[in-house]
Amino acid sequence: MDNRVYIFDTTLRDGEQVPGCQLNTIEKIQVAKALEELGVDVIEAGFPISSPGDFNSVVEISKAVTWPTVCALTRAVEKDIDVAVEALRYAKRKRIHTGIGTSDSHIRYKFNSTREEILERAVRAVKYAKKYVEDVEFYAEDAGRTDNEFLAQVVEAVIKAGATVVNIPDTTGYCLPSEYGAKIKYLIDHVDGVDNAILSTHCHNDPGMATANTMAGLLNGARQCEVTINGVGERAGNTALEEVAMILKCHNDIDLQTNINSQRIFPMSRMVSGLMNMPVQANKAIVGRNAFAHSSGIHQDGVLKNMSTYEIIDPRDIGLDGNNIVLTARSGRAALRSRLEVLGVKVEGEKLDAMYQEFLKLADKKKEINDDELLVLAGLDRTQNHHVKLEYLQVTTGMGVKPVASICLDIAGEKFEAAASGNGPVDAAINALKQIIRRTMTIKEFTIQNITKGSDDLGKVHMQVEHDGRVYYGFGANTDIITASVEAYIDCINKFVK
Ligand code: KIV
Ligand code: ZN
Repeated sequence: MDNRVYIFDTTLRDGEQVPGCQLNTIEKIQVAKALEELGVDVIEAGFPISSPGDFNSVVEISKAVTWPTVCALTRAVEKDIDVAVEALRYAKRKRIHTGIGTSDSHIRYKFNSTREEILERAVRAVKYAKKYVEDVEFYAEDAGRTDNEFLAQVVEAVIKAGATVVNIPDTTGYCLPSEYGAKIKYLIDHVDGVDNAILSTHCHNDPGMATANTMAGLLNGARQCEVTINGVGERAGNTALEEVAMILKCHNDIDLQTNINSQRIFPMSRMVSGLMNMPVQANKAIVGRNAFAHSSGIHQDGVLKNMSTYEIIDPRDIGLDGNNIVLTARSGRAALRSRLEVLGVKVEGEKLDAMYQEFLKLADKKKEINDDELLVLAGLDRTQNHHVKLEYLQVTTGMGVKPVASICLDIAGEKFEAAASGNGPVDAAINALKQIIRRTMTIKEFTIQNITKGSDDLGKVHMQVEHDGRVYYGFGANTDIITASVEAYIDCINKFVK
């Protein structure tokens, strides 16, 4: 059996389904190009029938990337496939990813159907897609809970119909690694013609087994794995690309190779985290802030004597440069550009100049600028086209006084002022803002996150606001946490006031 493992990245499809993590087309192109540099084999660019935005992203990503295969998701429905074919028209290499639920629970409750009918619909969809593209991947949704005998029948039938890849998703993250590995082995042993297609893993992380399950799948014969950067994805997420890539790289005893340029992993991780406003947890495997931080005396002593005592991965292999340049108000453009590049952000010319000015403003407020703050600065231009902008905010607060806020908003160039009190400074500021934006809005979630160490740090605020039965997500960052909160609220408003 071939020992090449194909990396199928679904950050822009399954990963992007996370509420609040949606990217616009320009951001998706940026991610797709970085994925190409990282060396992924397939980029799942979207689900074209789901929205005009998704359709357009698949079109633009198809134009932007050169060698990776661009893949579009569909249901086993002819109209979905027609729209996906249209979205992929500029792709140099293209794949349709079609499929249907195969577990008894999907068949009964989702489709009110029978195994025979599902098998027939699966074959029909693959044959239909095959008329337009050579490369057709079939997914058996909820394969993790599908009876192996029936799954083998479906896999055999879709391969006969022309599927080049068959995806075995553990959609709910239910399987144990031993079960998932055995499922792949069962298919390899029982499906007639299995050698005519590649079996793919697609594991979700609900109880935390996605990477273990993916590895079990690969060790049992799957040769493609579907993954996302930082493991982003709905609920507890998908298998993290960086985890599988680095397991395969550091285990000399496993004879499986990928095309991943591991030194691009850290910049890629930070780019996705920055664009999605999705922090990477400090102890996240491979890319977390603490992943290579040894704090106990015994560990530090060992690592200083020889790195291999406590580290199985050289941080330089994932693109961590070990360079501790501290960026301050005295740092130049070159230092700023070089640190941003380590973080996966490429800026040149006028954009670099503008960012450098923002950097200097922040550096005047605090001594050192850290990586997370640089990523926030890199994302600031996203608010430039906002319809509603914060012009100024003044808040009086403290022990024994009633908090009062006055605010001025710029709405499409016109200035509006208001003042209000509240039970705290954020409440006062939001009450003042609501006097200008007279809409019914309810805060559903409000998370204040400091970035690293000092009281002078930039604080980040993630907020969810409900308006007219829909939930909108906003983000704000400022050294003043009250301003950051109001900015996050205004970011939400800009999603529905156009
Ligand atoms: O988890 C899943 O089953 C999926 C399929 C649509 C491939 O994402
Ligand atoms: Zn999935």
